[in-house]
Order: sequence, then C-alpha cells, then structure tokens
Amino acid sequence: MPAAENNDWDDRLELPGQVRFMEGNGDLPMLSVTTEWSSAEIYLHGAHVTRFQKKNEPPMLFLSQMSQFAVGKPIRGGIPIILPWFGAREGFPMHGFARNRAWELKKIVPAPDGAINLHFQLPEGDAQGFPPFTAEYTVTVSDTLALQLSVTNNAAEKDLVFESCLHTYFQVGDISAVSVVGLKGTTYTDKVENFSQKTESGDAIRIMSEVDRVYQDTRGAVEIRDVRLRRKITVEKENSSSTVVWNPWIAKSQQMSDFGDEEYLKMVCVESGNVGKNKVTLGPGRTSVLGVRLSTVSL
Ligand code: BG6
Repeated sequence: MPAAENNDWDDRLELPGQVRFMEGNGDLPMLSVTTEWSSAEIYLHGAHVTRFQKKNEPPMLFLSQMSQFAVGKPIRGGIPIILPWFGAREGFPMHGFARNRAWELKKIVPAPDGAINLHFQLPEGDAQGFPPFTAEYTVTVSDTLALQLSVTNNAAEKDLVFESCLHTYFQVGDISAVSVVGLKGTTYTDKVENFSQKTESGDAIRIMSEVDRVYQDTRGAVEIRDVRLRRKITVEKENSSSTVVWNPWIAKSQQMSDFGDEEYLKMVCVESGNVGKNKVTLGPGRTSVLGVRLSTVSL
C-alpha cells in the first residue's frame, strides 16, 4: 500500500487572498491560486496543475470527470509531470514515478508584477534504478502559465540519463475544429502505426482518429487553434526537443477507466519535453532545466 500523503500544511506559506490551502478531490491537498488575471489549482500529488483559467475564458486545461484522485495513481488531465522515464518501462508503471508521488511545497513567492511563483520539490525516495537526483518545479501563475522543471544529478560519478515531459492536456471546444500548428517538416514516431518513422507534411495537424506521435528535434512554439472556442493556445518552450501529440479517440477512451467515453472530443495533449532519442544525459552535479510557457489569445 502506498503511504498516505502528508496533509499538514505550513500555514505560514499561505498568501491571504492569493493562495489558499484546501482539501481537493480525494481529500488530497491542493493549492488554490488567484491572480488579477487568472486562477489555478495545483495538487501536491504529482505537483500536478489541474486547472488554469484566465478571467472571462473557459479553462485552458482539460481535466477528466472520471479522474481518480488517489495516492499512487496519476491524475487524468491537467499537467502530469513525466519523469524520469516516458512511456512504458518493463516492470515499472508507465511514465515514471514523479506523477504518482506527493511533492513538497518549498515556498510561494509573489512577484512585484502580480505573478505568483510556487516552488515544489520531489522528496528523496526510491529512484527505481536511476542515480540519485533532485527535481524542482516552479509554477508561475499570471496572465500565462509558466512551468520550469529542473533536474540535478546528485551522483558522484555516474551520468543521469532521463526523459521528462510536461504532459499537458488542453481543453478544446470540439476536436473536429482544432488544428495543431508548428510541427511541419519535423520527423515523428507514429505509435499508432507500429512506431513507424514519418515526416510531418501538413501546416496544420487535424485529429480525426487516434493520434499518438512523438515529434523529435522540435524546439519552436506550437499553437492549438480552436475555432469553436475562438481561442489560440501557444505552447512556447525552452530546452525541449520533443513534442508529443496525443488524442486517444473512441476505442481507447472506452478502455481507460479514468476517462469518459466522449471526452476525447474535448481535449488534445500537446506535451513538451525530452524523450526517446532526445533524452537528457547529465554529468555528476549538472542541472538541466525544461521550461514551458502557455498563453492564450482570442481568435
Ligand atoms: C502519451 C503517450 O504521452 O500518454 C501515449 O504517448 C499514452 O502512448 C498517453 O497512451 C497516456 O498515458 P497514461 O499512462 O497517462 O495513460
């Protein structure tokens, strides 16, 4: 049985009117953040951002109505942190252990411009065969949502070879009215077609069946144009060479117990990180920082 997660907050960290500690779904501890432009919710479980919403806009992030909120289980939606491996690994759960553990809240720092920075750290624990490392995560809530995942290799001699991905679920009005733009000319692994290697030829990716693609050597911004919600989401990234585009479509939605049968119509994952051939190799004592900024404008 996984140990219970710590619900004891350090109340001194609260910022009246801006950051409140609450019991979230499944009684898991959650932070509710309010700025002059937006609001957000972040669970300590997985340091998982489950909601970001600008004033007068629908939520930017999709969160499944069927998600579990339980110790040892990943939350379905929002932004799971995938670390230190991406995808399947024999004998271990999918997508690493970071999304299944409670992170510690280290500090909350309000910025003079009104943004709020929340700093988290993954507690030391079983590294499941990886050399010891420190993972820190900073979430900055303002008129945008900015994320920084910093990984430091604590080993004295060994390299740390790891994958990381901010597996962001975006809420869309209707998947049939969505285009994902910015990946033209890049090569990808098509997981739906036997992991075959392909090159993206279209200016815009339209999703009309199951899509599960790992685009490599992609450093530029990606846009999600959503005609139904009249909104464009921009995903800008730093130190990220991989972009994963995922929609489970009908059959897979039905198979997933923590995802509604029709919810594939309302979401798309555009994930930023370094996976597969772009995994990161860090020498002893070295740090690598993955950065993602999510913003929206009206169309
Ligand atoms: C994507 C993978 O990143 O995550 C898919 O490319 C996978 O293959 C999806 O199905 C969801 O994974 P999980 O473990 O959260 O169900």
